[in-house]
Amino acid sequence: MKSASLIATLTAASLLAVPARAEEPVNFEKAILPIFEAKCLKCHTTEHTDEAGKVKKPKAGLAMDSVAGLTKGGKNTKETAIVAGKPEESAIYKSVMLPPSDDDAMPPEGKADPLTDAEKELLKKWIAEGAKFGDWKEKAK
Ligand code: HEC
Repeated sequence: MKSASLIATLTAASLLAVPARAEEPVNFEKAILPIFEAKCLKCHTTEHTDEAGKVKKPKAGLAMDSVAGLTKGGKNTKETAIVAGKPEESAIYKSVMLPPSDDDAMPPEGKADPLTDAEKELLKKWIAEGAKFGDWKEKAK
C-alpha cells in the first residue's frame, strides 16, 4: 500500500511540473524574430540595395533586423524602441497595441497583418523578461 501511494504522489508531482515548463523564457530567435520577419522587416530592415539596384532605408530609421538596430531604435523613439523589462514604455510594443486606425499603429493598416493576441502576449513577455537576444546576432540579408 505504501509504495502505491508513493507512486500516486510521484505521478501527481510530475503532472504538476508540466505547467511550470510552459513558463520558460521567450526565445527571441524562435518566437519573436518570425513575427518581425512576417510583419515588420519589409519596412524596417537595415539600409541595403534591392534587386532593382534601389537603396532601401529602414522606415523612420528603425532597423529591426539586427541587435544594433533594435537597440539604437528609430528617429523618434531612439533607445525607447525597446525598454528592457518595460513593455508599456517600449515603442515597438506600444505601436502594435494601438488601434489599426491610429496613425502610429504598426504594421500600418493594410500593409501587413496585425499581430494576433498571442503574438502581442509573446512580445510583451519577451520585453518584460529583459528583451534578451540569446545567441542571435543578426539576420543574414
Ligand atoms: C509597410 C511598412 C511598415 C511595416 C510593415 C511596419 N512599419 Fe513601422 N513604420 C513604418 C513607417 C512609414 C514609419 C514612420 C511613419 C509612421 O510613424 O507612420 C514607421 C515607424 C515605426 C516606429 C517609430 C520609429 C521612430 O523612431 O519613429 C516603430 C516603433 C515601428 N514603426 C514599429 C513597427 C513594428 C513593431 C512593426 C511590425 C509589427 C512595423 N513597424 C511594421 C512603416 C512600416
